Formats: sequence, C-alpha cells, structure tokens
Amino acid sequence: MKLSVIGCGYLGAVHAASMVELGHEVVGIDVDPAKIALLSEGKAPFFEPGLPEILTKAIASGRLRFSTDIADASGASVHFIGVGTPQRKGEYAADLTYVDAAIDALIPHLSDGDLVVGKSTVPVGTAERLAARVEAQSGATLAWNPEFLREGFAVKDTIEPDRLVYGVPGGDAGVRAKETLNAVYAAAIARDTPLVVTDYATAELVKVSANAFLATKISFINAMAEIADASGADVTQLADAIGFDARIGRRFLNAGVGFGGGCLPKDIRAFSARAEELGRGDSVTFLKEVDAINLRQRDRLVQMVVDALGGNVFLKKVAVLGLAFKPMSDDVRDSPALDVAVRLHGLGANVIATDPEAIANSRRLHPQLTFTEDVNEALTEADVVVVVTEWKEFRALDPAEVLAATSGSVIIDGRNCLDPVAWRAAGWTYQGMGRP
Ligand code: UDX
Repeated sequence: MKLSVIGCGYLGAVHAASMVELGHEVVGIDVDPAKIALLSEGKAPFFEPGLPEILTKAIASGRLRFSTDIADASGASVHFIGVGTPQRKGEYAADLTYVDAAIDALIPHLSDGDLVVGKSTVPVGTAERLAARVEAQSGATLAWNPEFLREGFAVKDTIEPDRLVYGVPGGDAGVRAKETLNAVYAAAIARDTPLVVTDYATAELVKVSANAFLATKISFINAMAEIADASGADVTQLADAIGFDARIGRRFLNAGVGFGGGCLPKDIRAFSARAEELGRGDSVTFLKEVDAINLRQRDRLVQMVVDALGGNVFLKKVAVLGLAFKPMSDDVRDSPALDVAVRLHGLGANVIATDPEAIANSRRLHPQLTFTEDVNEALTEADVVVVVTEWKEFRALDPAEVLAATSGSVIIDGRNCLDPVAWRAAGWTYQGMGRP
C-alpha cells in the first residue's frame, strides 16, 4: 500500500520506517527541512535503538522517502497524522495547532476514498471535529488509531503492537476504514493481535486513559514510598509483594524520582483540562494529585541531597548521574533528572552531570550546567553522588572504585536501582527513596 506520514518527529519517523518494514511504500513529510535532510540520509534525529537500521534499510529498498512538500502525499491513499500535541504554554490544555495545520495542509491533496488516520494523542472530541472538516472538503474518511509506543522500544512497539485500536465513523465508511487499517496492519492481524474497533471518542480516550492509569500507578507507589520513608518500611519489597497479585502486577511500580517525558505529564494535564471543558473536572481531580505526588518526588530528592551535605550545597560538588527521563532515550522533555540537576545548580551547588545519550539535548535547554561524557570525571572528588536515571552503565558501577574517586561517601539513589547491600558493604551511606 502507498502511505504518507505527516509529521516526522518521534512518532512519525518511527511509524514511517516501521510501515516500510511491514511491506508498504511510504513518504514521510515534515515542515522542518533539517529533520527531513537527516532522515533522508537514514539518520534518526533522536536516539532510538533500531531506528537508524530500519531507516537505512527502508531507504535502500526505494520504498521510503522524505519530503517537506505536503503535495507529495497525493500519491498515497492512507495518510497518517503523527504531529505533536504539546502542552500549551502557561496552561494545562493540549496545543492542537499542529494537528489542525496538518489536516488543513493535507486536505487539498486528498483523493476520493483516501483514509486519513490520526495517531497523535488528542483531547476527546478532536477527531469528530476534524472528521467534519475532512468530509466537507474532500471525499476522504477519517479514522483515529492511537499509538502506544514507548521510547526505547518504539520500533518493536510499532511493528508488534500489543493491541490495535481503531476509532471509525458509523456506516459503510467505517467498515471500509476498518478494512483499510486491517490491510495496513495485516502482519499484526495475522498474529491475532487484539483489536478494538470503536467510535472516535472511545479511541481518543483509550490513549489518554491508558497514560493516566500508568501515571497513577507510578504516583501510587511513590505515595507509598513517602509513607515507607516515614515508617521505616521498604517500598521495593512492598512493590514486589503487591505485584505478585496478578490483578495489580509488578510493572510500573518502581518508586523514585517519578515520571517525565513527552507523554505522561502533559497527557494527564491535558486530560484534566478537557474533563473540565466537558463539565466533568470532578471525575479526574485525582489526576491533579497524581501530578502533585510526582512533582513532590523531585522536591524530596533535592532535599535529600541538601540534607546529605549538612544543609548547605553551596560550591559542593554534586555528581548527577542521568539526565534523560528514562534509560535508552536521549529525551529530556519534562525529565525529573534534568530538573533535579537544574535545581541543585540553582541552589549554588557545583553540579557535574553525565548521561550516556542526553547531554546534547540537556545542554541546549540548560547551558548553565556543567556536563561531562565521562562518568569518572563526574565522580572525581564529588561530595555526594545522585543517581537520577537508571542507565545500566550506572547500575554497573563498582562501589569500591567509585568510593576511591569521590570525596564524600553518600550515594542517593533516586531510582532505587542500586543494590544497597553492596554499596553499604563498600563503605557508602546509601539512601534510596522509600527504602530504610
Ligand atoms: C509512555 C507510555 O508508556 C506509552 O504507552 C505511551 O505511548 C507514551 O507514554 P514513554 O513516555 O516512552 O511511554 O515512557 P514510559 O516507559 O512509560 O516511562 C514514563 C516515565 O515513567 C519515565 O520517566 C519513567 O522513568 C517513569 N517510570 C516508569 C517510573 O518512575 N516508575 C515506573 O515504575 C515506570
């Protein structure tokens, strides 16, 4: 099939290359010429394992090209919209400017019978509004097909999704939209991937409620970590024990400095804003608490560092291990790790931050910080060490070797990813979050 993908950011670039992997011919379109130039050379504009390989392969096959000209979408019959829906400045609501602009730009190039497929995360009600515009101005149909990919696993999540959700209109147009999407995802359908075919509103809500649930799960365990700290309990053992209950499950119960990234924080805020618009703000008041618990973890971690340094961080050397919002990513959008580094710097500490992938993106946002690629340089003569992203490189550090390099002997594990027994045995004062 011939497909176009409008928006070649995280979602769109991965989707475009993955669709070629599934056998289709794809044109990826983006307004940013620098991004298109990189992608055309088979280079990913961000760190994502496996993406450069499938990009190079797809381009070499002649079935993937990139363009800044939306008119190039006219050769395709299925058009995916994968543009961003960031948080509006100074507000909680999502900014739909890019989605609206993409639809408006695409409409003149649509043919009768084409299918436009929204993948971006949008407030419920958006698809219905856009469908009216697409139908009034072209002979195309709109479907909403939310994306559940995780950064770091984006290629696998796209090629082998754990479920497919199609939001389609009623009547024949909806039946045809379902058939078209089944043909796009033929490989997943053949594997009996669970499929939910529903209306627009449900499809939109599936995505935001899934992210709201995940965020709630993390904040729940972080709330337990606060209680554990006050009572001497161990939240990691608590998570193991409750996680054995299949109804609860162990995943997303890792307490620490909390969630960040380009999705969970902005999605729960946009969900709250949309619920208020719908007159149902009360239904999701708890999401404000989820957000507050999450942000409190950053305060708690900063305070732990201050306390470890006797109440005054001024000119003390703080080694910050991690900047990305999670391992296997160079993404620092709403990253708790970068936020903690910035706050400690703001308090006057001599912060030296390191990360295997996220230094360039961090430096662009916060040039005032000091960065090093070399973890040993960060650790040398550090008064305190803080782990804020659980990269395997940091988990593999040898406690005795680190102790020989640093001035201080306190390690603060903001991700509960180190073995307290091993670090204490080497002479460290180990402090986790919610661990005695
Ligand atoms: C998330 C959703 O998982 C994905 O389905 C959706 O499509 C996009 O948003 P992503 O943002 O890539 O994906 O990261 P995810 O793995 O969900 O982690 C989000 C944040 O939660 C990270 O900062 C991570 O460190 C944190 N987290 C995760 C915890 O603090 N504890 C956990 O137990 C799990």
